Amino acid sequence: MSETCFLEGRGDLSEWRDAARRFLAADLQPQMIDWRLRSEEQGLFGAGTNDIANLESFPAVSTNAAAQMSVPPAFIRLADAVVCHSDPGRFALLYRLLFRLKAERHLLDVKTDADVALAHRMQKSVGRDYHKMTAFVRFKEIHLPIGVAGRRCFLAWFEPDHFIVARVAPFFQRRFNDMDWIIATPRGSASWDGKTLLTSTEPAQKRDISDETDELWRIYYASIFNPARLKVKMMMTEMPKKYWKNLPEAELIPRLIAGAEAKLIDMGRRQATEPRPFHHRLQEAAARVPEASVTEAGTIEALRQEARRCTRCDLYCRATQTVFGEGPVDAKVMIVGEQPGDQEDLAGRPFVGPAGRVFDEALSLAGLDRNTLYVTNAVKHFKYVPRGKRRIHQRPNEGEVEQCRWWLTREMDLVKPKLVVAMGGTALFSLTDRKDRVEDVRSRPIVMDATRTLFVTVHPSYLLRIPDQVRRDEELARFREDIVQIGKLAA
Ligand code: URA
Repeated sequence: MSETCFLEGRGDLSEWRDAARRFLAADLQPQMIDWRLRSEEQGLFGAGTNDIANLESFPAVSTNAAAQMSVPPAFIRLADAVVCHSDPGRFALLYRLLFRLKAERHLLDVKTDADVALAHRMQKSVGRDYHKMTAFVRFKEIHLPIGVAGRRCFLAWFEPDHFIVARVAPFFQRRFNDMDWIIATPRGSASWDGKTLLTSTEPAQKRDISDETDELWRIYYASIFNPARLKVKMMMTEMPKKYWKNLPEAELIPRLIAGAEAKLIDMGRRQATEPRPFHHRLQEAAARVPEASVTEAGTIEALRQEARRCTRCDLYCRATQTVFGEGPVDAKVMIVGEQPGDQEDLAGRPFVGPAGRVFDEALSLAGLDRNTLYVTNAVKHFKYVPRGKRRIHQRPNEGEVEQCRWWLTREMDLVKPKLVVAMGGTALFSLTDRKDRVEDVRSRPIVMDATRTLFVTVHPSYLLRIPDQVRRDEELARFREDIVQIGKLAA
């Protein structure tokens, strides 16, 4: 006698597992069970079919019996993926494997076994479908009536090959946590409202949800398309044609492929161009100066605003912003460094990166308050070379230091410090126009003019670059002594 088992079959492992356990407890041979999909039966016989029609005749499995049927975790993982597959034969396959596992505990290790191989192929196909869904879902904003406080709402349509919606939904919940969304598919839907992740197995209807973001996708895709790296076969594997109809950018693909060769020839003919600095938007924002402030001539604030637009040398082109001096306008001590580093360039403030930390530590050991000092640099823009994602510091050349001296001189005229501290050779050159070695003039007061004294010490970055720990500690101690002396000279 054969048994017919009706399942909804929409990727829910527990549905198949409950049925399989009962059949297994009754020792029902795999060939005795006819696994069917309710949706298909409804099409044939109308909507009257029960969930699992014949299961009532099989007693529910007791905990004891269930314990005796324990299966390897690898099977659970496999079954969890295989039940999502759209092949109607998946339930029979899984039951066959389960049944055989009773006698063949290591069956899953036999990769050449036809059932095992088929199950693995199905698992792989479900995995691929999962990844394509994470990559190819395109959200469109939908404007709901007011009442959905503060959160934007998005809708996406996707056509998976398998019943993977419930499986992928937690990925979208994590990735798009701060927006409300619905992903509708012909194999079920998922939604997230910031609190609850819901999934449904009901097939959804496709709605036309094209909007202006389609054009953004096309612009983005066209801009990342590199004819020099085109590999059509690989591209078609990555983005198979069946997905194209729901990807706004896909309509460009035939044209981009057709034009790739000509574009490549054209690229070869043209000169290499410098990429725009990655942070050009920040740079543009930093250069926007409030009109009113520039008119307040003669104040340090006016000078700072003016310096935001400095183009005296080329360094402004690649730097994010001008990093001007900061501190009280009547400070007794002015500290002059070399130029802003990577972190200063982004923050717009001097000595906030690693060198700044060495400096701050020395100040605090000497009992000096940084807020009483005016801290600035010989050069106000960050000079670097890009290397991968990093920006490697480059020492400013003489011309750049000379151009920037214009600002430093004005800062000194306005602040009128009693003591000017040059940290490192670049600051020393900027302040004296001489190329003395730091060591030759270091650690003693030098008269600059009638009102100002110069004090020279090393640059804190120099200390960070000393590879030998013992020497570094010695040099650090000397630097800290210099800072103590500065405190005394300023008193
Ligand atoms: N190095 C400098 O000379 N100045 C800074 O602001 C940071 C690092």
